Amino acid sequence: MPNTNTAVRLLCSIAAAAALAAPRCARPTQTKLAAATADPAVASREAFDDVVQKTYGRYPVTIVRGSGCELEDDAGRTYLDFVAGISTCCLGHGDQRLVDAITKQIQEVHHVSNLYYIPNQGALAAWLVKNTAGLDKAFFCNSGGEANEAAIKLSLKHAVQERGLKDPVILTAYGSFHGRTMATISATAQPKYHGPEGCWQVKGLAEHFEFNDIASLEAAFEKHEVAAILVEPIQGEGGVRVGTQEFLQKARELCDASGALLVFDEVQCGVGRTGRLWGHEHVNVIPDVLTCAKALGGGVPIGAMLCADKANVFAPGDHATTYGGNPLACAAALAVARAVDDDGLVANAAARGAQLEAGLRAMGDKYAGKITEVRGRGLLLGLELSPELGGAAKFVQAAADRGLLLVPAGADVVRFVPPLVVKAEQVDAALGILEECLAEA
Ligand SMILES: Cc1ncc(COP(=O)(O)O)c(C=O)c1O
Repeated sequence: MPNTNTAVRLLCSIAAAAALAAPRCARPTQTKLAAATADPAVASREAFDDVVQKTYGRYPVTIVRGSGCELEDDAGRTYLDFVAGISTCCLGHGDQRLVDAITKQIQEVHHVSNLYYIPNQGALAAWLVKNTAGLDKAFFCNSGGEANEAAIKLSLKHAVQERGLKDPVILTAYGSFHGRTMATISATAQPKYHGPEGCWQVKGLAEHFEFNDIASLEAAFEKHEVAAILVEPIQGEGGVRVGTQEFLQKARELCDASGALLVFDEVQCGVGRTGRLWGHEHVNVIPDVLTCAKALGGGVPIGAMLCADKANVFAPGDHATTYGGNPLACAAALAVARAVDDDGLVANAAARGAQLEAGLRAMGDKYAGKITEVRGRGLLLGLELSPELGGAAKFVQAAADRGLLLVPAGADVVRFVPPLVVKAEQVDAALGILEECLAEA
């Protein structure tokens, strides 16, 4: 495969070195595993499971390299990647712009800490605030969860310090997903993430309303001292659900009337994915705070929390993270920013999104008994399957067997989030595989 990703190569060589080192440790379990199977791929997955905690349900696929929208596994099989590291690798794999940017930066200086000024961080913040209506200042971190954690801390401080609230809460929508830290998991209004007896919820931090239900939002707002409404303009993990104009506008009005902050979580739908730079641009409702991550670094970890001047209440020492906005991560994000500015990345997402959505809708008509709904915007699309098909995970496995990588979003929704550089013929190829899967399902 051309354009082999050097980072992937590096990881492979680390993995190979680890595998070579393993026999020297010769722990009994590894000896037992080696005897249990003759298939090296299975053996290496079993060895992996022997030492890595099982916090993820993994498909039995080992990806070793990628190029553009294609990935290759350890058996040489290629896949069309419509997952993009879960809405993250917006430039695809092995993109030369990203490779050049991080290669140059690591040769100069890759990490110094926020004890010092970092030119790339300033340049990225300038790009973000220039391209985000109403928002003036950026804080950088490493992930979506951390960006939301920062937004929650900022909102609570704003509520207490600027508005004198005594018992401030964050209001979030049922079906939302905001991350896995203790605060963001509490904000995530889906009990399946809250642990046994809800033991991972920080009590009193968050209260909830029904997504797209104005009466429910108003009732929750009335009942609590609201520091902020934190909401995804398009719910991703919750099943690809588009927030309506009226609902998001109502959230804006409630915040305006009370002084609460409106926080948009654009971790999944931001950075061009919906065919606009930000998902909320489709509804023209301006937030006070915006969080993003995933596509921001094209797969290199970086997150950001942007806020309006009126919400800019953090003082030195209030919030920090060692790696946040380091020169390397910002170099990657600046390469993504250049692709947005100069290479029509967002326009391609809009065009290919329209093509994919039209194809999915045609499929929805043809297989009406098997598909209950097609929804989403741009290249964040969901296909809701009829429950008789046995669930999204089974369907995703069937597609992977045919060479198309997809990802579930909830029990019955199959999500399409390819790299934003996806080509028209790749969208057609994905639709062809999907049709085979549907015909057989
Ligand atoms: C909308 C949204 N917010 C936050 C997160 C958490 O991001 P991360 O996994 O980078 O912490 C996700 C992850 O899927 C997300 O989709």
